[in-house]
Amino acid sequence: MENTSVNKTKSTREFNPKLLWYYTIGVIVVWSLFICLSLLWHHRTMNDGVLAAAKIEARAAFQNHVVYRSWNAVHGGVYAPITEGTQPNPYLDVFERDIQTPSGVKLTKINPAFMTRQVNELAFEKYGYLGHITSLNPIRPGNKPDGWETAALKSFEQGAKEVSSVHIINQHKYMRLMRPLITETGCLTCHAKQGYKEGEIRGGISVAVSMEPHLAINKSTLKNFAFVYFSVWLVGLIGTFFFITALNGQIQKRLIAETELHRHEKMEGVIEMARAVCHELNQPLQMILGNSEIIMLDNIDRQTLIKRVGLIKEQVGRMGKMTRKLIKITNYETKEMPQGKVIDIDKSSR
Ligand code: HEC
Repeated sequence: MENTSVNKTKSTREFNPKLLWYYTIGVIVVWSLFICLSLLWHHRTMNDGVLAAAKIEARAAFQNHVVYRSWNAVHGGVYAPITEGTQPNPYLDVFERDIQTPSGVKLTKINPAFMTRQVNELAFEKYGYLGHITSLNPIRPGNKPDGWETAALKSFEQGAKEVSSVHIINQHKYMRLMRPLITETGCLTCHAKQGYKEGEIRGGISVAVSMEPHLAINKSTLKNFAFVYFSVWLVGLIGTFFFITALNGQIQKRLIAETELHRHEKMEGVIEMARAVCHELNQPLQMILGNSEIIMLDNIDRQTLIKRVGLIKEQVGRMGKMTRKLIKITNYETKEMPQGKVIDIDKSSR
């Protein structure tokens, strides 16, 4: 005899379909956030790149100044014809500052700082580069530093090698960069009288290069990347859509299958009960029928009649007992019979 007890586990029928859409919204929000943050991070990295590139350009401009200035200093200054734009330097106090060639051309000595001022003018006219030679202790009052340069020069005296930052000049972004000018042997020809020694900081040159070309490249690159990020985002979104649709299909299928199974189980229970009742009622009904037929015979004596009616009463009693048991059924216990699985009324009504 085999006993079966039904043990219900959590089924798909308890699944709330709204939950699937909450998950979907959650996935989309997280995915969009991830893409936005990635693009933001990329943008920041690219901006750092722009700063680095502008600094390299500014450093190169500074180094150019240092190189031609050294060349000038090595010669202790160089002569150039006196013109409207190149007048003798009143701050240059050297022997034979102004001379004349045998044919009568007037020449004046150009010291490195004078040359730098002229080169700066030219660089600004040609390329928009800004440059300024300065010192905390200027010989020429026009060379005095501005606020930013003063702070930079002071930091060089504390050991800093370079100062740079982004400035808005004439509504354009510029990278300003300043480095110190160190007193070399050649410089002492003119600067020894101010008490400078080799290796000391004489002053500095500040340069400013426009960041616009770098920013323009950045902008177009970012546009391309934004398109790539958008495409990746879209692919993710479409993927999520297909995945959720497929998942929803699977869940619906399972739901239908489970409902079908449940119906089948119920039907089975009904059949098992019907079989059990038929089986239990069959025997008493047969006996009641047989005894009724005997009673109905013509020549039956009183004693047999009483005996037969007694037998019928006994079967009716048996049927009554069975009905009372049926009312008390609280359990689902089955047993195997030749006609198939039936409810075990005795065990189920205990
Ligand atoms: C031929 C003389 C001469 C030589 C060589 C020379 N200087 Fe000067 N320097 C001057 C004069 C004059 C000034 C001030 C006027 C001016 O701006 O031209 C000056 C100005 C400067 C300034 C600007 C601040 C100020 O004092 O007005 C700095 C910085 C400077 N010199 C650094 C140097 C360094 C570094 C060297 C060596 C590489 C050097 N100079 C070599 C004559 C010279």
